[in-house]
Amino acid sequence: MDFKDVANGRRAVNFFDTKKPVSDQLLREMVDTASRAPSSFNLQPWSLMILRDYEEKMRLRKLAWDQPKVTDAPVVMIVLADRDGWKKGHTSVEKDFGEMVKAGSMAEEQYDWFIGACRSLYGETQDKQQAFACKNAGFFAMALMYAAKNLGLDTHPMDGFDHEGVREAFNIPKNYWIPLLLAVGYFDETKTLHPPKWRKGFKEIVVSFGSKV
Ligand SMILES: Cc1cc2nc3c(=O)[nH]c(=O)nc-3n(C[C@H](O)[C@H](O)[C@H](O)COP(=O)(O)O)c2cc1C
Repeated sequence: MDFKDVANGRRAVNFFDTKKPVSDQLLREMVDTASRAPSSFNLQPWSLMILRDYEEKMRLRKLAWDQPKVTDAPVVMIVLADRDGWKKGHTSVEKDFGEMVKAGSMAEEQYDWFIGACRSLYGETQDKQQAFACKNAGFFAMALMYAAKNLGLDTHPMDGFDHEGVREAFNIPKNYWIPLLLAVGYFDETKTLHPPKWRKGFKEIVVSFGSKV
């Protein structure tokens, strides 16, 4: 699919076809494609919980403003942002460094520098940890939505949910923040999709704040 078609065709789809399943293979392709998303130092501080079971989805729906799409969609993902994904000893951090050494973009002797850089950029304060986790997981979530559209799937992102309730109900460890839930499936063709919504234009997006020089 042409990228413009993917970008224009992706919609937050409110109604899912309850009778049209999504195969494991398609889901895997969607996640594999989205995994190409960029991240700080390539640390990839994201994880996914994938819910298919109706009872589990209902448990989530009750904590998500009772939004029917949570149970209507054949698949619901809980997107997780890892606030510890910059720390020395973290599996991804150690793997990332090792891969950079293998690829020749980092030397073994730069380990302490790398760990220090990760700590000062992403770990020094709780704000930095939160920003690090959420911005990167946000890119991943966007990539998931585009990857889905490209495969003919529809999605719906949601942050209307009880964050701590979901954490508790699904045993999600404290290092994770939950930026959003993502319903995945096929639009119910018997329903009407709202017309495309307004977007800020170029002039509204681009700003400047002057310069002291
Ligand atoms: C992070 C995020 C959270 C959202 N949460 C909800 C939600 O809880 N419930 C809902 O109905 N829509 C939710 N939306 C959907 C937005 O309202 C929708 O994306 C926006 O109105 C633009 O519509 P479009 O995606 O169809 O272009 C969310 C979107 C994003 C990106």
